[in-house]
Amino acid sequence: MTDGRYSVAVLIGSLRRDSLNRKMARALEGLAPSSLRLAEVPIGGLPLYNQDLEGATPAWEEFRDRIRAADAVLFVSPEYNRSIPGGLKNAIDVGSRPSGQSAFKGKPAAVISVSPGAIGGFGANQHIRQTLVFLDMPVLQQPEAYVGGAASHFDAEGNLAKEDTKVFLRKFLDAFADWIARLRR
Ligand SMILES: Cc1cc2nc3c(=O)[nH]c(=O)nc-3n(C[C@H](O)[C@H](O)[C@H](O)COP(=O)(O)O)c2cc1C
Repeated sequence: MTDGRYSVAVLIGSLRRDSLNRKMARALEGLAPSSLRLAEVPIGGLPLYNQDLEGATPAWEEFRDRIRAADAVLFVSPEYNRSIPGGLKNAIDVGSRPSGQSAFKGKPAAVISVSPGAIGGFGANQHIRQTLVFLDMPVLQQPEAYVGGAASHFDAEGNLAKEDTKVFLRKFLDAFADWIARLRR
């Protein structure tokens, strides 16, 4: 906790510039309650995990340090082929190693999936949750957050276009803030 707020590392599962998930992450930063400070930890520059490169890959160390410094982790991700996008899975793998030194261990987590499709990235969301069990990260259970028809939630400037979406996202963030406070107390 710094400046009286819990720091939340935001991992975005899409690497593309105009990503709907990135727009969602930005919107969440703006809607977060005063007890949370959300900040993206970029994953796009992380070399693919290869145990042979342990100790010789500064980008991995920097990423692990940023996760260690955070109080909690928020996953904001699309679904690729009904599962976790490769870039995000690589970041999870990088942060989880070396064995016994996972940067993620014990940190409260939450997952929101965003897709233009009707089921809102349900497959990716559930697969991330499955991974969090092994990472020993207590994950927010409710509300679950599957955002479908994602393009319709944003206006031309990338801002949230619908009031009911904002109401839901505030509820999600408030529940996450309570969850973090309970676990980090
Ligand atoms: C490799 C690949 C696989 C995809 N598979 C799915 C999928 O299983 N389910 C789905 O709803 N959308 C799928 N999509 C479409 C993505 O949801 C869509 O491209 C979305 O905009 C990606 O998120 P972003 O806007 O944050 O980049 C896939 C896209 C790609 C590139």
